[in-house]
Amino acid sequence: MCFMYKRENLMCELSKKEIFKIQYVKNKYPYVQASIIEVLKIVQKGHGWISDSLLQEISNILEISSCEIEGIATFYSQIFRKPVGRNIIRYCDSVVCFLNGCNQIKKTLEQILNLKIGHTTQDFRYTLLPTCCLGACDQGPVIMINKDLIYKVKKKIILKILDVYK
Ligand code: FES
Repeated sequence: MCFMYKRENLMCELSKKEIFKIQYVKNKYPYVQASIIEVLKIVQKGHGWISDSLLQEISNILEISSCEIEGIATFYSQIFRKPVGRNIIRYCDSVVCFLNGCNQIKKTLEQILNLKIGHTTQDFRYTLLPTCCLGACDQGPVIMINKDLIYKVKKKIILKILDVYK
């Protein structure tokens, strides 16, 4: 396994363990581009989001341009390029949830959290994002908090739901 990335010469945010994992994933695929998503997920798991300096470190290790990685990082909604809250709230705004009143759910979330879509509360407890169909259209409106799907959401229980997620 080649180790082209000379960690000693750079200010690094990545741990040795992360660098090892990235090298492993890089060598797993016939084309390095195929490893980018998996690598971004490894780094995001450890840091919560992908900063510019982390992106540059990934670029150094994978030996591909940071622009190429940036293109993929910004395309996938599961990869964050700015800090996010401990809890990611996604509300479905696809057509069936729209017909079932997702706009009211969105407005209630914005009011309770005192923030707009795409933003994070000042205490970094919550980030609020729209998402497309969550695959539970007959149970709408649907929201997802972290990995939990919550069905048939009603305005009056949103506060109770949020309270579970510290
Ligand atoms: S439209 Fe909302 S879950 Fe499918």
